[in-house]
Amino acid sequence: MPFSVIFLTFVVLAGCGGEDATSGDSTASSEKGIKTFKISHVTQESHIWHKTAEKFSEELEELSDGKMNAEIYPAAQLGLEKDMIQQLETGSLDFGFLTNAYMSTRQESLNAWFMPFVFNDLEEAAEMRESDATRAMLDELSSQGLVGLDFIFAGNRHILLSEENVENAESLKGKKMRIIGSPAMQDFWDELEAGPTAMPLSEVYTSLQTGVIDGIDIDLDALVTEKYYENANYLTLTNHMTFPAVIVMGEQTLNSLTDEEETIVREAMEKAVDWGIEESIKREEENLEQLIELGVNVEELEQDDSFKEVADIIKDKYSNDSDTIKQFLEEASQ
Ligand code: BEZ
Repeated sequence: MPFSVIFLTFVVLAGCGGEDATSGDSTASSEKGIKTFKISHVTQESHIWHKTAEKFSEELEELSDGKMNAEIYPAAQLGLEKDMIQQLETGSLDFGFLTNAYMSTRQESLNAWFMPFVFNDLEEAAEMRESDATRAMLDELSSQGLVGLDFIFAGNRHILLSEENVENAESLKGKKMRIIGSPAMQDFWDELEAGPTAMPLSEVYTSLQTGVIDGIDIDLDALVTEKYYENANYLTLTNHMTFPAVIVMGEQTLNSLTDEEETIVREAMEKAVDWGIEESIKREEENLEQLIELGVNVEELEQDDSFKEVADIIKDKYSNDSDTIKQFLEEASQ
């Protein structure tokens, strides 16, 4: 048989065979020795969490000389966050960018990020990424079979109302507010005597339009990308909380990696998150400019004792219950 025929036959067979170089039980598919990890999250493709996941894939490819990359499933395509946790446990998903809000229902210390009025802007919040308390929160996730890698931020939360800006805590009494379900957020809004209703982001646009709710607490990126300003035009910049996602890897995925691969994965994630945080900080300003141009009535909240009282109640309650939250607040105040 001529050499060219033997060579062609080999190439065709190798292409069809699908070499399997994946070790362990992780879902990372492997074609021709390339590991492709699955990442899932709940936001749209334009959101900074998605962009950070894309950056992670790029960094993975570069650091591994093309031997690793990631496939990203946005907008809850693989299911809601509770489903994502199950998939991470069984190894059918490798990485999740999970809202800290959802995860705070599963791990108390994560409520630290929702202690009210701790950060004046996103930059201050992002500095806490390096704190000991933050590291402790990530380590604690191992009790759920998850490897806590890092935190990425959507932005700080502000208040959007359909009829007026917020002047003080009194302005929120009796308002029907959409919140994302989380113990600390629920307590904060209960303490304000607003009527907090937990609902998914996908229902917010119509609920504002039909008056089912009077307002929302939201980050500027979601406000712009989801166009909520079309149905509610009064934005008060409150910075009352920050809004992170916790980035986790499934233990099965970790167990499938060699030491060298694990080092690459961790380095790629750190680089991606460093980039993502800088981008989110830039986006805060760009989004605000865009909202002003769009004619949204933007005002900055003037802090007064009414909010401080509520914030102190929440901070006392949670730091009494969790040493990690107490430590987080101490570190944040330094
Ligand atoms: C929310 O439900 O409020 C939300 C979720 C993910 C990113 C931003 C906002």
